[in-house]
Amino acid sequence: MPGKEAQGWVASLLPDGQHAAMAEPTPPWYDDLPASLAEAWALLVRGAADRKHPFHTPAVATIGADGGPHVRTVVLRGASPPARRLRFHTDARSAKATELRARPRIAVHAYDPGGKIQLRLAGTATLHTNDDVANAAWKATKPLSRACYRVATAPGSHASDPVAALAEIGDGDEAGRAAFIAVTVTVVRMEWLYLAAAGHRRALFDWSSGSLRANWLVP
Ligand SMILES: Cc1cc2nc3c(=O)[nH]c(=O)nc-3n(C[C@H](O)[C@H](O)[C@H](O)COP(=O)(O)O)c2cc1C
Repeated sequence: MPGKEAQGWVASLLPDGQHAAMAEPTPPWYDDLPASLAEAWALLVRGAADRKHPFHTPAVATIGADGGPHVRTVVLRGASPPARRLRFHTDARSAKATELRARPRIAVHAYDPGGKIQLRLAGTATLHTNDDVANAAWKATKPLSRACYRVATAPGSHASDPVAALAEIGDGDEAGRAAFIAVTVTVVRMEWLYLAAAGHRRALFDWSSGSLRANWLVP
């Protein structure tokens, strides 16, 4: 029975002994589509600012030259609800940058096990190399993060030994700037899933037609 299965996978996420009858009070956004959307963006903003929040390290998926999906973790560096935009940083020579230059479609996934909220986003990526967005992002980048961009050879290249793989192009603070890019993602679709013993809530927010269409979905 589908109901039983759904209960099965959420049951394993709930504290021992908790079931529908003794579920905690539902959050204020539980049955409220606009409030669920606002909560989703609030969590993304928090994720960008708080390195301990699970949304700080979402997974982003691109379409590879082989036509298949390629997914990896990134650090969420910025989230702007009014612009519907997210930002992360990467190496211009990386596979994901190459893939996004060819096909800017991108998907983002984040899950907060404490809040039991999953977000699945789809959007369009813009690669910022030398504009205001990239320059401001580089300026705010800490020395430890800057070091990543100093590797002499493109990330993902085969290396004969793991130490030589870390050889740097130079050790100055600005040496990695040429390889650094900021990627912004304009969100065109957001799927919200809240797991609750009292009943899951799943919703779709879709801006692909130019304005927001919001719907509940069967979880
Ligand atoms: C916690 C965590 C955070 C990461 N953050 C980033 C990041 O912000 N930018 C990035 O390019 N790679 C980041 N990485 C590494 C990527 O997951 C990935 O291994 C690397 O970028 C190569 O991906 P690609 O070959 O698909 O381009 C992170 C990995 C982990 C585990």
